[in-house]
Amino acid sequence: MRFTRLEEAVLEEIRPTSEELDRMYRLAERLMADIRASGKAEGMMVGSVARKTCVHGDRDLDVFMLFDPDLPREDLEREGLALAWNIAKKYTEDIREKYAEHPYLNARIEDLDIDLVPCYKVKEARGIQSAVDRTPFHNRYISACIGEYTDDVLLLKQFVKAGGIYGSDQMTEGFAGYLCELLVLHYGGFHPLLEAAARWKPGMFIDIGQHAAKWFDEPLVVIDPVDPCRNVSASVSETKLLEFIELCLGYLKSPSKWFFYRPPICILTKGQVGDLLKGRESAFLAITLKTPPYIEDIVVPQLRKSLNTLVDLLKRHEFVVSRADTWMLEDKCMLLFELLVNTLPVIRYHAGPPVTAHVNATKFIEKYIGSDAIFAGPYIRDGRYGVELKRKYRHALDLLSSQEIFATALGKHVKHSMKEEFTVHSGLECWQEGFEPFLSE
Ligand code: UTP
Ligand code: MN
Repeated sequence: MRFTRLEEAVLEEIRPTSEELDRMYRLAERLMADIRASGKAEGMMVGSVARKTCVHGDRDLDVFMLFDPDLPREDLEREGLALAWNIAKKYTEDIREKYAEHPYLNARIEDLDIDLVPCYKVKEARGIQSAVDRTPFHNRYISACIGEYTDDVLLLKQFVKAGGIYGSDQMTEGFAGYLCELLVLHYGGFHPLLEAAARWKPGMFIDIGQHAAKWFDEPLVVIDPVDPCRNVSASVSETKLLEFIELCLGYLKSPSKWFFYRPPICILTKGQVGDLLKGRESAFLAITLKTPPYIEDIVVPQLRKSLNTLVDLLKRHEFVVSRADTWMLEDKCMLLFELLVNTLPVIRYHAGPPVTAHVNATKFIEKYIGSDAIFAGPYIRDGRYGVELKRKYRHALDLLSSQEIFATALGKHVKHSMKEEFTVHSGLECWQEGFEPFLSE
């Protein structure tokens, strides 16, 4: 038996039905016929639907439009989008342009979510001009050998989805569908993968095609079998990798359906948050700003960078940060800090030059001796002269509200948005609308 009874029962629920696949294939066929009829490009259905590795209920259909590789990039973008609009308009009015490495179209046709993606029809995956050009190669590679492992992939996808680590986007930093397929193929099934992954450590390296042509230092490296210069798991952060290892260990030890069905996260009420904050006796501060008008994959790394630089700023001013995190919504973003204390005493120790660095030491002493600006000193501590001064920012709230934040290495677009407007919230005020799930977690 490949699967346990529990897994068979899960598979019964997550296998796509043939009606559901047929419906998506019929629509894909029509779209591909439209693309062919244009005489401009070739259509190709890709992604998990094409490989039958989509989970029941998924409504995401990926149709690629393959253009001549000699077409200049700007023409591909312009003609690709124009063709996509022309085709999509025949079926629906619910259409929007999206942007990854270059623009594509997203359309809702009935209850299906269709991506129409222009790309180059390249001969070899090494010759790609843009990341999406690789996808048709993935499709051919996986379609050719996934057959007997389809159920294994479905189980793995459901397992990582329930674990909250499915998706290669910047917010999730987890496992893409294609990565799940490769891992199942490499280890020969869901169970063999889990057994192996339970013993993984960060730094794990897998090279299915035995052809790595580059060095990667991400925590998990899975060399793309169709491109020796690409790490398929570049998106997986160390934390998400360790969470996966933890889930594998947990499931092997005591399997249960909760590894496949995520219990809904419990959203706290404002009252509960108030009690929790009181109980922790720490200080919460949050900065909110308008979401910069760029895609998530650009904004989220900038939010992380900004969070880190502000944590450093707080530390330089002697505020101890116990936790910090960030979240992006459609319209606004939050940088959240938990500090051990909000308010520091007015006195601050300021270290000067080493006592034996005579020239500097003399200048230092002349500057401070007898000065009204100091509480005490200069005196010798740890081989240096030092004085006790008045602190500029006694309250973390004042520091985060000050212009000092713009002297740090904020992400470019985050800085731009904050220059226009930002708000600092304190304590229970951090409980802002839309951020409830983030704050509750
Ligand atoms: P999708 O994100 O739609 O993935 O990307 P999927 O495999 O179809 O999985 P689900 O079931 O919809 O979640 C479509 C294709 O783009 C490539 C893969 O070839 C994938 O099949 N891709 C996407 C990557 O190579 N890496 C990524 O991080 C994302
Ligand atoms: Mn897909």
